[in-house]
Amino acid sequence: MALPVFSRAIKIAPSILSADFANFGAECRAIEDQGADWVHVDVMDGHFVPNLTFGPATCAAIRPHIQGVMDVHLMIAPVDAYIDAYAQAGADVITAHLEAGPHIHRTLQAIRNTGKKAGLALNPGTGIDAVAHLLDTVDLICVMTVNPGFGGQKFIHSQVDKVRSLRAMIGDRPVHIEIDGGVTVETAPLVAAAGADVLVAGSAVFKGGSVADPAPYGANIAAIRKAAEAAV
Ligand code: DX5
Ligand code: ZN
Repeated sequence: MALPVFSRAIKIAPSILSADFANFGAECRAIEDQGADWVHVDVMDGHFVPNLTFGPATCAAIRPHIQGVMDVHLMIAPVDAYIDAYAQAGADVITAHLEAGPHIHRTLQAIRNTGKKAGLALNPGTGIDAVAHLLDTVDLICVMTVNPGFGGQKFIHSQVDKVRSLRAMIGDRPVHIEIDGGVTVETAPLVAAAGADVLVAGSAVFKGGSVADPAPYGANIAAIRKAAEAAV
């Protein structure tokens, strides 16, 4: 599915990094049934980040189980050689890390040339001045609020000011601000108030639930959404 018309309404994007790796298709169906807006897919190469998850084949396998937006986060370097594979696997958004290589403008152009939405992820140590000349080449900027590689980490509060400054820099351009890492009912309002609209949450969504008992997924998603919307 292509992205719906641009909106800054709060969207909850559970990360399947916290899902049951033996049951991805059922987990994607469960989180969407329980209210997920996007499905966040964390691709890790064991080189750009100290963890290894899955590749294009897994993304293609889960695509039929996702009715909504498949939001692929590439924590890989180099990235350009793999963009087509993730586009063909069915990603709707393909996000590359600014830190993954020397030619980020070309990477974003390559993503857009596949017809997909282009995302740009910034590690906690990367300042927003790095995106000043890219605002018309991206559809989403992902502000990492943990150091990438693992779920269940602690939210890095210093990034909230970065979100606020980024929101001002974006102005009325149709560019999503996505927050990734340590999003909970406590931290969601902070980033929503600062101007974020896509909230990735892995451990905070999957905690307490399972494919057999998905109701906690719905309660967790609803609680994060409610906390974020109350702050906007
Ligand atoms: C970390 C990933 C995040 C992570 C979020 O490198 O990019 O998407 O899965 O997990 P939580 O929400 O548990 O911090
Ligand atoms: Zn991610």
